[in-house]
Amino acid sequence: MVIPSAYPTIYKPRSHPPNSHHFISLKSLEPSISGPIVFQPKPNPVQSTSPSTSRARDNPIQLKMSPIALITGSNQGIGRATAEALAINHGFHVLITSRNLAAGEAVASSLRAKGHKATAIQLDLTSESSIKAAVAFVEQEFGALDVLINNAGILIDVQKDLSPWELYTRTFTTNVVGPGVLTELLVPLLRKAPSGLPRIIFVTSAMGSLHYATDKSLPWYGIDYKVYDASKAAVNMLMLNFARVLEEGNGKGKVNAVCPGYVNTNLTRFDENGVSVEMGARRVVEVAVAGEEGPNRTFSNASGELPW
Ligand SMILES: NC(=O)c1ccc[n+]([C@@H]2O[C@H](COP(=O)([O-])OP(=O)(O)OC[C@H]3O[C@@H](n4cnc5c(N)ncnc54)[C@H](OP(=O)(O)O)[C@@H]3O)[C@@H](O)[C@H]2O)c1
Repeated sequence: MVIPSAYPTIYKPRSHPPNSHHFISLKSLEPSISGPIVFQPKPNPVQSTSPSTSRARDNPIQLKMSPIALITGSNQGIGRATAEALAINHGFHVLITSRNLAAGEAVASSLRAKGHKATAIQLDLTSESSIKAAVAFVEQEFGALDVLINNAGILIDVQKDLSPWELYTRTFTTNVVGPGVLTELLVPLLRKAPSGLPRIIFVTSAMGSLHYATDKSLPWYGIDYKVYDASKAAVNMLMLNFARVLEEGNGKGKVNAVCPGYVNTNLTRFDENGVSVEMGARRVVEVAVAGEEGPNRTFSNASGELPW
């Protein structure tokens, strides 16, 4: 069911005029873009801090017991909350991927210290070699994947020192090209999902809704995030196409797009008007753990389906 009224209440910034282009200031985005822009390949192709005991060939029984989920950008924010919920509440072996391996390993080791299964893998979505190395590692160590959560993303439209070329290229490389290529390369492993039901979730945004983009009554109508919005519309189209791809073969698989709502994270300058990361992760986790009767080809948030 389409619930068009659900989103505006979440996205309305309280302390700024509705049409402000600056409710996420330039300064606020500095932490988002302070990571390495150019990938530095490491001599060791296996860029992970995984304990070797997690190897599929060493322990196939353990794999049977723990479905495996790879979450991009899970060193912080919604991705981290999603990974923690999957490991702690649903018994997943989570693959914590991050641009900075040490940041991912901090999350993975804190989960392992509490008795959960987690492995950190370096992954920069703007680097083809990083994507290929991460996929090769998953193949070598696990041989299969149950759930892929394409969570990592950036919103840099407000960074006015970027040239239009840089803004479009960086946004689309991170939000669309990287997730698309990663998903493409992981499909063969997803088809071997030990659970028998591969699932892919694209973390998208209601800002990518074509329907909402034409609705002048919405409080965010005038906010000029055209590049971010376009990247999320493209992500929604990737979702529909990968749903078709998984349908081919044995017809097993669920692919969905989820909007987390307006969440208090680095991306929103830790805006206290946003909901907690746990709340933001709720719908993502719900869809990730859904079984045969779960949704497929949907675009939704915690309140229900969203209009395209
Ligand atoms: N927060 C919201 O209100 C909101 C609303 C709608 C949709 N979303 C979506 O939710 C997702 C998560 O956002 P968030 O709010 O949790 O933001 P966040 O806290 O800034 O987390 C973003 C994550 O993406 C990672 N990332 C950025 N560039 C990357 C790259 N080139 N390669 C790999 N990882 C990269 C970041 O890594 P670093 O730590 O290295 O920067 C970080 O782990 C995004 O797709 C966003 O568009 C968020």
